[in-house]
Amino acid sequence: MRITVIGTGYLGATHAACMAELGFEVLGLDIDPTRVASLSEGLLPFHEPDLPALLQKHVKSGRLRFTTSYQEAGAWGDVHFIGVGTPQRAGEGAADMSYVDSATISLARNITKDALIVGKSTVPVGTTRRLKNLVRDNKRPGVKVNVAWNPEFLREGFAVVDTLTPDRLVIGVDSPEDEAVLRKVYATALAGGVPLISTDFETAELVKVAANAFLATKISFINAFSEVTEVIGGDITTLADAIGLDARIGRRFLNAGIGFGGGCLPKDIRALQARAAELGVDHSMRFLDEMDGINLRRRERTVDLAREMLGSLSQSRIAILGVAFKPNSDDVRDSPALDIANRLFDEGAEVSIFDPAGNLNASRRSPQHHYVSSTEDAVREADLILLLTEWDEFKALTPEGLSVQTGTRKIIDGRNILRPQVWADSGWSVGSLGRRYVADQAIEGTPSEQLQMSSSPAP
Ligand SMILES: NC(=O)c1ccc[n+]([C@@H]2O[C@H](COP(=O)([O-])OP(=O)(O)OC[C@H]3O[C@@H](n4cnc5c(N)ncnc54)[C@H](O)[C@@H]3O)[C@@H](O)[C@H]2O)c1
Repeated sequence: MRITVIGTGYLGATHAACMAELGFEVLGLDIDPTRVASLSEGLLPFHEPDLPALLQKHVKSGRLRFTTSYQEAGAWGDVHFIGVGTPQRAGEGAADMSYVDSATISLARNITKDALIVGKSTVPVGTTRRLKNLVRDNKRPGVKVNVAWNPEFLREGFAVVDTLTPDRLVIGVDSPEDEAVLRKVYATALAGGVPLISTDFETAELVKVAANAFLATKISFINAFSEVTEVIGGDITTLADAIGLDARIGRRFLNAGIGFGGGCLPKDIRALQARAAELGVDHSMRFLDEMDGINLRRRERTVDLAREMLGSLSQSRIAILGVAFKPNSDDVRDSPALDIANRLFDEGAEVSIFDPAGNLNASRRSPQHHYVSSTEDAVREADLILLLTEWDEFKALTPEGLSVQTGTRKIIDGRNILRPQVWADSGWSVGSLGRRYVADQAIEGTPSEQLQMSSSPAP
């Protein structure tokens, strides 16, 4: 079985390399010739752990190739995965489906033998059925081309392991033959016990956005409580630990901080609301608007906290550690850290940024900041440090180590990864989101005046 993957971004490049790893002949297609040239040389144009090795291995073996030609892909492939982008439409919440539509039409026009098109992009419910009609209207006569949906759940930073051994496989199909093809594609995972959920198109499409809506809600839930703990002087991390020990709730995705971002969660919850409105069930998804609002308020709160700690942001020098939307990624799409950096700049601060992988992407979007190549360079002249992405190297920072590199003793922990008590004991003022008192003290139930964060006035 020959597999093509249309769109070779975070999702598509990973999927293509992993399909090659599973033993298939794979052809990746992208309309970006620079990307295709880079991938063809085995060079990954973005940061994703474990993927460079897989890419090089299979480009070298010849099992994985890349092209810009739909003619080549259509004549060659048996199964065509679509992994192009579905960004938020400018000025609206709805998804921009033009890339998916264009890829589908190009494929349909160029497929010269019976084939299956399998969508992997995250799309509004109803897309597969609509694309089936597009394919019917554009395919060559005498060629059978069917469409299925197979949403992708990979996490950036863990994309390879998530693709090779996913928690579950979900497929939306309208024929047993198409299910059989997908069972063959995923035979290795299925043999390893990965559950497969085979369902109708609409449910398969909805599973993906429902999962993201749930995750966004879980993060915003704890962040809503962090707004409360900030007022009452409680500790959001302890609260999350305590409720998370209830197996029905679980501790994951309950980390309070500057909130979620990236190329998926924010646009997916907005697109879901837009689609729900089209379907006349906007009331059912209205809560997501509140989740979005809670999330965006955390960015505002971080800027307020910085202003409180410095008195004024104007002409201040601020170091930002971490600008990618999450660690182990260079993705800065809708990054809360970059948004905060931009807001600080707009209020007159000079911002120095260090991210182990995200500097280049961030500098393309926000060239007004200074991008430096180490923590030391970022913090040297700073009046205040903001820790905004929880990379391991930032988790390992110590007050003693950082004190050698900078004159300031002010830090905002935007991810609640530092132990404020330890830093306070070393003479640092630590601003946190939802955690005004030292965690250990809070657990003992005696928040001490001495250990109280110096960043916000007592209520
Ligand atoms: N990034 C993730 O972690 C992730 C996880 C699950 C699902 N998804 C979904 O996967 C989809 C892709 O996301 P991504 O992060 O990989 O996006 P991306 O922007 O990194 O990649 C999209 C790629 O598609 C290419 N492209 C655009 N139009 C094309 C066309 N007509 N033909 C061929 N190539 C075309 C672009 O040049 C780009 O390389 C989105 O729907 C996203 O929501 C992403």
